[in-house]
Amino acid sequence: MQETEIVLLEDSFAEVRAAGEQAAALFYARLFVHDPSLRIMFTSTDMKEQGRKSLVIKSLRRLDSVVPALEQLAVKHVGYGVRDEHYTVVGKALMETLSVFFAKRFTLEYRAA
Ligand code: HEM
Repeated sequence: MQETEIVLLEDSFAEVRAAGEQAAALFYARLFVHDPSLRIMFTSTDMKEQGRKSLVIKSLRRLDSVVPALEQLAVKHVGYGVRDEHYTVVGKALMETLSVFFAKRFTLEYRAA
């Protein structure tokens, strides 16, 4: 990953995080439009999405170091009932959230990063 892409992701993530629950609400709304059956998986009322990608974002310059933590996270997800195809839906909802959130600033370069 190039330095310009890393900086783009770090800066934009900081902005999304600052928007907190508003960004999380947008994300869940998109997710449940695509697959309403996922709603029951998310039992907690406080929306935790904002914290989720922070480990990876902080480690973009040394992704190898987070592989063990991500493997553990993946195992936890199997326990939540998450299946392979759900990652596609979550990815789609995430891209839509960023697209709405950043509007004109969601450039092709940013989308690619
Ligand atoms: C690369 C993609 C993903 C990342 C980085 C990620 C990250 C996380 C993290 C960090 C947690 C909190 C775990 C903890 O408390 O220890 C979590 C919880 C959870 N994730 Fe994911 N996740 C991803 C994809 C998915 C997908 C595809 C689904 C299924 C729709 C999903 C469903 C859940 C559920 C149900 C929980 C627990 C309930 C909750 O915290 O609201 N995740 N995820």
